[in-house]
Amino acid sequence: MASPDTVWHHAVIQRAQRERQNGHRSAVLWFTGLSGAGKSTLAHTVEEKLHHLGVRAYVLDGDNVRHGLCGDLGFSVAERGENIRRIGEVAKLMLDAGLIVLTAFISPFRADRERVRGLFPPGDFLEIYCRCPIEVCEGRDTKGLYQRARAGQVAEFTGISSPYEPPAEPELAIDTDTLSLDASAERVLHLLRERGVIGGT
Ligand code: ADX
Repeated sequence: MASPDTVWHHAVIQRAQRERQNGHRSAVLWFTGLSGAGKSTLAHTVEEKLHHLGVRAYVLDGDNVRHGLCGDLGFSVAERGENIRRIGEVAKLMLDAGLIVLTAFISPFRADRERVRGLFPPGDFLEIYCRCPIEVCEGRDTKGLYQRARAGQVAEFTGISSPYEPPAEPELAIDTDTLSLDASAERVLHLLRERGVIGGT
């Protein structure tokens, strides 16, 4: 810590009161998977469904966050680690604010994801693996980045010139190449109900 002479200010209003006001618990849904696996699309679809259910939810999206908060970071192992650390801290603030936070980052390294998990009480961090074969992601190539990575124009590209370490025990794994978007989103909602984060059956 570079600023040791700081003192934590304890808020009067606590997370539990915000949760009561909202009518649901807060939680972090951590989507991980290759570029093009459908993390952002799924996270936004879940956000939309939650919104219509009256649940306060917000998506932190990798590409978007790299336009601002993490605009100073590239894709080396260390910079990805810092990217994920910052997002973990932002998610922690949002959890305290009473929200359901959905994060859509490749987060390719198990150690980085486990470090983030360690920031939260058990049960508040739910890892969702968007499992999709690289051939399918590369076939989609919506941003044209796989093609550029194959041509050597994008360095350290996940799945091509930088590794992806799949989660060993995610709370949920979704085969995004075969399951429809709507069915995938429903599986996430089911997880939230099962864990008592939101009400309903
Ligand atoms: S992470 O590895 O640090 O979690 P993050 O999710 O923030 O990555 O950003 C990934 C997005 O950045 C990809 O969806 C892609 O659009 C873009 N991108 C640009 N360069 C790379 C790269 N070298 N590896 C992976 N994604 C890249």
